[in-house]
Amino acid sequence: MTSMIITSLCMFAVMQVITFAGLYYVFRPKNRKLLLSALVYILFLHTSYFFLFSPVSSSLFVRLTVEYFVLYPYFIYMLICMVMTPFFLFAGMLVVLFRFLVWIGSRTGEHKQTDESLSIDAGRRIFMKVMTSSVVLPLAGCSVYGAYVERDKVEVREEELFYKDLPEDLDGFIITQISDIHAGPFMDGFRLKGFVDKMNTLESDIIVITGDIINWGSIFIRESIGVLSGLKAKKGIFAVLGNHDFYGDLKDLCNQLEKSGVSVLRNRHEKIYNDDRSAFFYLAGIDDPRGSWYLNDDFPFIKDTLKSVPKHGFKVLLSHRPNVFDLAAKQGVHLTLAGHTHGGQIILPSVSGHGLSLASIAYMYDYGLYQKENSFLYVNKGLGVVGPPVRVNCPREITRIVLRTGTS
Ligand SMILES: [Fe+2]
Repeated sequence: MTSMIITSLCMFAVMQVITFAGLYYVFRPKNRKLLLSALVYILFLHTSYFFLFSPVSSSLFVRLTVEYFVLYPYFIYMLICMVMTPFFLFAGMLVVLFRFLVWIGSRTGEHKQTDESLSIDAGRRIFMKVMTSSVVLPLAGCSVYGAYVERDKVEVREEELFYKDLPEDLDGFIITQISDIHAGPFMDGFRLKGFVDKMNTLESDIIVITGDIINWGSIFIRESIGVLSGLKAKKGIFAVLGNHDFYGDLKDLCNQLEKSGVSVLRNRHEKIYNDDRSAFFYLAGIDDPRGSWYLNDDFPFIKDTLKSVPKHGFKVLLSHRPNVFDLAAKQGVHLTLAGHTHGGQIILPSVSGHGLSLASIAYMYDYGLYQKENSFLYVNKGLGVVGPPVRVNCPREITRIVLRTGTS
């Protein structure tokens, strides 16, 4: 964990140096005071580290002030650095190549430092200014909008799923799903309480949480997890562990969840009955495989978890990662509920109707509903955020699934 934090900080330090050097080259401030002010402001943004590693246990006013004026600007700046680093590296390589060619030309006597070459240099800088502005300005605008305007939008998605082999006595059973809470600086107990209250209006039979309950570390566990004890569902609250849940004190997290009335399904299953106990289905949950956080198709726990479930029983699987779906469908799982992708946190409109999410770069199942014969997958867009606290056209999500017997 410590080495991961140190590596991330070092990488981000390098990105900042490259971004700053690139911006300096392109915009070269005539007034040195401007450069100094920018450096002071960047150092001010770095006070965010203090709040990232310890909760602000003060009044709501202080919390919101810290979020609006310290944390959000810092993450927007971080996002700009992340995007601009490869851009400036590529532009830098072109500049070096151009200068090398000029140097070769001057060595062979074919090229001299003339007014013409100086004007090419000035022209290149103007071109870079236009290119940089066309990347930075929309990116900054989009980030500011995503952080300050859309950040608290939450959508309740309703899905009715029809199965021929669902026992009739389970017709109308309601599963409410949330995912990727990421308890941390952007999901403190106060914010989580608002979502808990909203979920309690949905008359759920069960509520499931598909992983990434915490962001990282253990500092935010107690404050946020205690709030989950307020969740209300007739047949219980269940959770599985996501990759982020392993980045802190796992034992403490599981203990706190159980204390809050949340059953953690770690590679096991439970029978879930209807009101008069005349019918039931199997609810199974698997741990995140914890390998690479993207493109991981290896799910070693699924076979053992489902081994003792009768072949013809109705099965619902909770898995943090959605790419378990192919395997789950083959194992006869009727419904797989997953998260992990956050829907990319930014979704662009597309002609297909299924928007173009940033998550689609790495994941086949990026968000929403998928079907393979008699098996469904639902990928929840998450309740929290990871990385920059930005969501654009991709609101936080609570999914309310109604199981139905028959055909639609
Ligand atoms: Fe997540």
